[in-house]
Amino acid sequence: MKFSCQHIGIIMDGNGRWAQARGKNRSFGHEAGAVKVREMTRVCSNLGIRYLTLYAFSTENWKRPALEVSFLMKLMIKYLKNELPLLIENNVRFETIGDLSPFSSALRKQIQITKDATAHHIGLTQVLALNYGAHDEIVRAIQRLNEAKIPLNAEAIERHLDTAPFGTIDMIIRTGGDTRLSNFLLWQAAYSELFFTPTLWPDFSAEELEGMLEDFEQRERRFGGLNS
Ligand code: FPP
Repeated sequence: MKFSCQHIGIIMDGNGRWAQARGKNRSFGHEAGAVKVREMTRVCSNLGIRYLTLYAFSTENWKRPALEVSFLMKLMIKYLKNELPLLIENNVRFETIGDLSPFSSALRKQIQITKDATAHHIGLTQVLALNYGAHDEIVRAIQRLNEAKIPLNAEAIERHLDTAPFGTIDMIIRTGGDTRLSNFLLWQAAYSELFFTPTLWPDFSAEELEGMLEDFEQRERRFGGLNS
């Protein structure tokens, strides 16, 4: 079935609990989370989804123990290196949102290599949210508007958000049982359909995603208007 949903955002929560349930440390869960990123990218690509935006590292995640932060940084470099052949094979374009400036030059270099190598791909666009927070994104958008002396209004802000090139977000999924957005795509979520599941991210499956996409098709999206 071809779904009308074009753009999915995912808050990938539950790696730590998934690992703890197996008597392992949190890093083990993040490794499993990275494997799931690869799988879901392929699944979304096969389903004809245009954009998949994944919350991989938030502006708040710096508050985690230094060891966990440094593990996540190394994991991201490893993921990007391993992923490139698969992105190429599946015609996937790689992009990011968020402020990359605090990352190491090694990570920023790998991000750029991956973007450059996939820029011409016309299949799914995988967008990693890295050092991303919606508050930070909105402030940066307003700063850019002020610098360019562009009058402030909703359309202008929207055009200057990190997600501007990727269109509106149709659905936002959060795994791991919590029912909040945790500073993810707050502006863009105004009319997104929200899905919350207790499933921990490493256990999330193609079947569960397809169930959500079928549910999405049934939802009546009025965008503040009346039924047609
Ligand atoms: C939340 O799980 C997840 C994160 C903080 C980051 C998401 C990271 C990944 C999916 C792996 C790396 C991604 C890439 C693209 C290489 P949590 O640690 O908060 O889980 P918990 O709520 O069970 O503690």
